[in-house]
Formats: sequence, structure tokens, C-alpha cells
Amino acid sequence: MKTVKASIIGFGSIGQGVARVLLMKKDYLEKEGIDIKVVAIADSKGAVIDENGLDLEKCLDMKAEKGTIAEKKMTGAEVIEQVDHDLVIEVSPTDVITGGAGLLNMQTAFEKGLDVVTSNKGPLTLKFKELNELADKNVCDFRYEATVGGAMPIINLTKEVMAGNEIASIKGIFNGTCNYILTRMLEEKSSYSEILTEAVDLGIAETDPTYDVEGIDAAGKIVILANTVFGMNKTINDVDRTGITQITYEALEICSKNGKTIKLIGEVKKNGSLTVSPRLVPIGHPLSVSGTLNVASIQTDLAGEITVTGRGAGSIETASAILSDIISIYKEY
Ligand SMILES: NC(=O)c1ccc[n+]([C@@H]2O[C@H](COP(=O)([O-])OP(=O)(O)OC[C@H]3O[C@@H](n4cnc5c(N)ncnc54)[C@H](OP(=O)(O)O)[C@@H]3O)[C@@H](O)[C@H]2O)c1
Repeated sequence: MKTVKASIIGFGSIGQGVARVLLMKKDYLEKEGIDIKVVAIADSKGAVIDENGLDLEKCLDMKAEKGTIAEKKMTGAEVIEQVDHDLVIEVSPTDVITGGAGLLNMQTAFEKGLDVVTSNKGPLTLKFKELNELADKNVCDFRYEATVGGAMPIINLTKEVMAGNEIASIKGIFNGTCNYILTRMLEEKSSYSEILTEAVDLGIAETDPTYDVEGIDAAGKIVILANTVFGMNKTINDVDRTGITQITYEALEICSKNGKTIKLIGEVKKNGSLTVSPRLVPIGHPLSVSGTLNVASIQTDLAGEITVTGRGAGSIETASAILSDIISIYKEY
């Protein structure tokens, strides 16, 4: 049995989802020969540390009761630097402008020789090449399936399962909030702003939905796919991007009468073109999924077109992608 000492940096929806999934899958992991011992958890206020392994149930209860797990005033980077462990599960907030604390956390982890599994796309949309080079230089594993499409498998699918295929393009819906808004506008015959209010009330959209509705979130995912699958060196500034704020109910209705729908489609092509924009999709086409679902169509030379769909967000769903990355690193074959 391999014991892996891990930290969870960020203890919000996804950090807590990871803790729950590790509790749920303890026996499964043991059968795979992996014993994950979480030795530190950090949130915005500080950290809790136990080098013998934290009681995750107690940590979840403490977060629910007190709003924080902080027992010591330490930043994520300080935890990574000072606590003896092997794996950093980096699930702090995304910042695509500066990379945020997540960027420093990942750099600190690699400089210390630690593996990183993350759902935080910010650092990858800005410093993809630098982070991967740093990971390689320090012989660290770096996995980020959860950054694109949450639970929908796309990175490991294209890199591993579809190995040998040459990929010409990947296009799809990479933002569940936009897809929800466009779906509901047509269903409810309502304006963009009315449905945005509904999405905020349901917790599907942020109070400030700019990242989602302006296509910035989808653009970040397209950048990660471009760099991972096509070996490009793109940043979020290389994406030709239009959001959904100008889409009207009337436009959706006219399209619908012609058997089409409008979707916010992100696309990366082998020739280096990266786009996010509202596009017409025939109703019934594999890309015309409804609600908060994500979908991706991969054009390949051997396998033809492969389409995957799944939940692009959610605590346990996203944690499932993080778990699969952890297993890929530590499973003994
Ligand atoms: N939610 C999803 O469905 C989803 C899906 C795919 C990817 N992601 C990505 O996963 C990451 C986490 O998302 P989330 O939904 O869990 O966000 P969240 O609920 O807002 O939680 C973020 C957590 O990070 C903590 N935090 C804030 N600043 C920090 C810092 N400087 N150092 C350490 N911790 C810090 C917060 O502390 P407090 O608890 O004290 O506020 C909170 O615990 C984000 O990068 C997000 O884009 C999320």
C-alpha cells in the first residue's frame, strides 16, 4: 500500500467535495493500493494541520459550523512549503488576470518537488508552459482534468484513451451557466436579464457573472485544451471571444423555427485558431445539449468524430475528476 500525504488548498465547494469523495472511496482506493492521508487543509483564513492525517469528517463539520477550518494563520503557499507531504490538491479560486494565489501555490509545490492535481484553471490559462516546465524540471506530476468540463472527461480522454489519433479540432460547450441561460430563455420566452436573475437565484450564476457570460471562462478552457492536446503555447489573450449578452429571445425563437438553436461554442483547431462565440447548432445535433451540461466533439483522423457530454460543474462531480487524476498518478500498475 502506498501512503500519499496530501494537502487540500481551498476548502469551498470543490475542496469539501474532494474530502467527501476521499471518505466515500476510501475502500476503493485501498483496493487500488493507495492510502491518501490529508495532512493539511487551507482556506482563505488559515490552515489546519495534522501530520498523522486529519479526520476529514471533523474538518467538514468544523467548516460547516464555523465557516473556516483555520487553526493556524497560514497561507496556502506556507502550508505547501512547511508541511511534509507529497501531493497538493489545489482548489482555490480561479483568477485568469493574475493567476491568483493558485499560481504561487503551484509554483511553490513544484519547487518543493510535490505533485499537483487541480481544478483551478487560472494559472494554466496564463502560465501553462512555465508551470509544465517547472513540474518536469522537478520530476513532479501535474494533472488538471477538472479544469475543463468538470466531470466531463476530455483531457485524459484525448491524451491517453485516444492515443495514436491525430486530432484536427475540438469544439463544444464549456460553460454550463451560459448554456443554462440560453436554454431557459427559449423555454420561458424571456430576456437574457430575466433568466440571468433566475440563474443567480438558483446559484448557477455568480452575482457578477462576467467570467461566464462574456465567454472568459470558456476561453480559459479552450486555452488549456490548445496547450495540452495540440502542444500550443497560447494564453487567454489569444482567444477570439464573444459572449452571450447580446443574444435576444427573438433571435433564439427565429432560429428555433428554422430547426436551430444558439449555443456558446468554444473551438480550437490544429491550425492555431482559438474561438469562443455564439453559433447556430441544429436541434438534435450532438452539440445541442440543454441546461447546465457541457459537451465536446473531437475530430480525429482514425476514430472520426467522438462526442462526450457531462456535468461541467458541481462539488462531487468535479471532485470525481480530481480523484481520477490522483489515481492515475499513484496507482501501481
Ligand atoms: N464549483 C465548480 O463546480 C467548479 C468546477 C470546475 C472547476 N472549479 C474550480 O475549482 C476551484 C474551486 O472552486 P470552488 O467552487 O470550490 O470555489 P469556492 O467554493 O469559492 O471555494 C474556494 C475556496 O478557496 C479558499 N480560498 C480563497 N482564497 C484562498 C487563498 N488565498 N488560499 C487558500 N484558499 C483560499 C476559500 O476560502 P473560504 O472558504 O475561507 O472563503 C474557499 O475555501 C476554482 O478555481 C474553480 O474555478 C469549480
